[in-house]
Amino acid sequence: MNLEQKLQRLSDAFGVAGFEDEVRGVLQEMAAPYADACETDPLGNLICSRGSGDPVMLDAHMDEVGFMVRWIEKDGFLRLTALGGWDNRILMAHRVTILTRSGEKVHGVIGSTPPHILSPAEQEKVVPLEDLFVDIGARSRDEAEAFGVHIGDPATIHYPFLRLREGYVTGKAFDNRAGCLVAAEALRLLAQERLPYKLVVCFSVHEEGGLRGAKVAAYRIAPKLALALEGTIGADMPGVPEAKQPVRLGKGPAITLADRSITVRPRLARFLERIADENGIPYQYKLPAYGSTDAGAIHLERGGILAGVVSVPCRYIHSPVSTLYLADLEATIKLVVAFLRRAGEFL
Ligand code: CO
Repeated sequence: MNLEQKLQRLSDAFGVAGFEDEVRGVLQEMAAPYADACETDPLGNLICSRGSGDPVMLDAHMDEVGFMVRWIEKDGFLRLTALGGWDNRILMAHRVTILTRSGEKVHGVIGSTPPHILSPAEQEKVVPLEDLFVDIGARSRDEAEAFGVHIGDPATIHYPFLRLREGYVTGKAFDNRAGCLVAAEALRLLAQERLPYKLVVCFSVHEEGGLRGAKVAAYRIAPKLALALEGTIGADMPGVPEAKQPVRLGKGPAITLADRSITVRPRLARFLERIADENGIPYQYKLPAYGSTDAGAIHLERGGILAGVVSVPCRYIHSPVSTLYLADLEATIKLVVAFLRRAGEFL
């Protein structure tokens, strides 16, 4: 499987925050052959390790933003609540996939009131998630339940992976399956090398809306050094001034100096820059201080953990149509591999 095919498999896997089983299965398959051990902790984090010595942690959250069924109306329509940060403006008129308790998937559409019967003022209005409804073709609550749908079932807007053109792809969950793939590839590419530390790759649960999995994983692993991997906010697009573009596509991996959850220790940020320069890898800074990352939770664990963030630039994250350049993904993998070859200098 090439890199594009692996990204496709990961992005298409179901993995709404708190319901990561399917994507964890895919990652276990990808990582286990290159790890001494893989275990799943009580929250669902998949922790794969290799070698011995002080732990160095790579973190990539495997969850994606999604929804949970909040209510089933008498006439069979579903109401949703958000798991993670959505933008109300983009929710209407998409297809959703609901994962039922039995593991079956039920499909539906987020319905919209026909414009013909709306006033001009109503047509201008953004409808909040609370007022939206999902149509699964059920004619009653009983019928919806007979389809296997329960209150509490997770749902996602499912857009299958698609190549827009050679090297440029779109999918529903590049935040953060791109980061997951960087972590899995780093583990694979370093499989034949002896590192002077224990490499621990954590595919974390429930980053969206709380940085939850990484917090307990960092406590458990107690790393000397940690790097969180992300698919982050590409905003090089019409209408956004350069000074407000957190990262840009085609410019290589983004090194975080500060986001809303962490200010990276300068010696670690400089080290990442140096590694990139020495290896001829293009890089950019993620402009401060947009977004939060697992590094925010990790660096506050135990007595404090030295942590940084490297990201693959992705446009339209937290929407079902994120995009990325495979060249940026490849360059990010290169940077992380080069970093891990030298990470022993921090121990
Ligand atoms: Co993310």
